[in-house]
Amino acid sequence: MNHSTIKAIINTAQIVTPMGTKAVKGAFMEEIKIIEGGAVLIKDDEIAFAGTKEELVQHSDFSDDAEIIDAAGKSVIPGFVDSHTHFVFGGYRPGEFMERLAGASYLDILKKGGGIQRTVKSTRESAWDELYDSGYQRLTSMLAQGVTTVEGKSGYGLDLDTELKQLQVMEKLNRDHVLDIQPTFMGAHAIPTESDADEYVDFVIEKVLPGMKALSVFCDVFCEEGVFSVRQSEKLLLSAKKLGYKLKIHADEMIPLGGAELAAAIGATSADHLLASSDEGIIQLAGSDTVATLLPCTAFCLGKPYANARHMIDSGCAVAIATDYNPGSCYTNSIPLLLALAVINMKMTAPEALTAITLNAAAAIDKSDSIGSIQTGKKADLVILKEADYRFLFYNTAMNQVDKVIKNGKVVYQAPI
Ligand code: NIG
Ligand code: FE
Repeated sequence: MNHSTIKAIINTAQIVTPMGTKAVKGAFMEEIKIIEGGAVLIKDDEIAFAGTKEELVQHSDFSDDAEIIDAAGKSVIPGFVDSHTHFVFGGYRPGEFMERLAGASYLDILKKGGGIQRTVKSTRESAWDELYDSGYQRLTSMLAQGVTTVEGKSGYGLDLDTELKQLQVMEKLNRDHVLDIQPTFMGAHAIPTESDADEYVDFVIEKVLPGMKALSVFCDVFCEEGVFSVRQSEKLLLSAKKLGYKLKIHADEMIPLGGAELAAAIGATSADHLLASSDEGIIQLAGSDTVATLLPCTAFCLGKPYANARHMIDSGCAVAIATDYNPGSCYTNSIPLLLALAVINMKMTAPEALTAITLNAAAAIDKSDSIGSIQTGKKADLVILKEADYRFLFYNTAMNQVDKVIKNGKVVYQAPI
């Protein structure tokens, strides 16, 4: 007979979680649930129950045989979802970072054939195993910071073979590594040096998009001055939509081109960056189902003003936050830094930031029905923090607060003592 495995997380100080199966908008982002001294019951890889310890012992799935996970007086939160990364890449760009510190702009470096183009060259040259091994290590580093699901983009190939290589690496990593990976095809990440923008968009639509569908859920585009225009981005994304892709846009990262407006108009799942979005773009996002994904680590690394998170939330947007981990604009996967920037520099409240990195981030990759909160029926992806009070996530500035990570109901990470 096939018995279920039953586990109970007991002895918590508090269970802290947003609630729901959809992105939470505007003022509702503040409304998280805190169960003081709560307990969680896990059946196989799912949450069977989360509530008080009195309710736990009465639950029909609970018995004295349940395996106990002792939270030792600490708080429990949902696993983090990093909904925007470019974690599969070859080579590094420290020289470019120094150039930027000395005043060069990100787009100027790209125009001169550096930036993304440099990583394209090294990713094309990288062996499959190199990409796999470095990707594996990067996932492990994310796991130690409480990330249980990560989105990863292609876009360092700009040709059929290398885009395919990046997505196949992610597919194997998804099978081999304990983290879940949501893959995004981002062939339109830059214009390859051997092409022009219109010609390249047509090439991607005709020759690349159809074949990548089996390996990716989302299609993303870098809609930016000097990269892909709103018209080119729209053409590509509408073709992707017809093939069944869900849509994402790198929108208004440097210049208010109208990427936010485009995302809302074509029903993108998320619009990302939004540092320079217009008020009109923000109003349109607020009236849509598109999640506004903010990437403050990128603004920090580029020395740019942060996206106006307060205005977006106060206007009714669903805001998510993510790292944008990549070797150029933001070479950090630091969740502690991300959380610090969200509350200190973007003026989000602690509950809003927690919602943004869990439930709304899950919605940004269309997974909020199964992850992103601690409630019955969702996957048992949880983090036990080092402290009793979840606010230490922010207060203990830019320090890792993760004690244990539970993925699919199993303890898969324990912080060194
Ligand atoms: O999200 N802006 C475009 N893509 C990445 C940067 C990629 C890179 O610089 O390698 C971003 O910032
Ligand atoms: Fe990005």
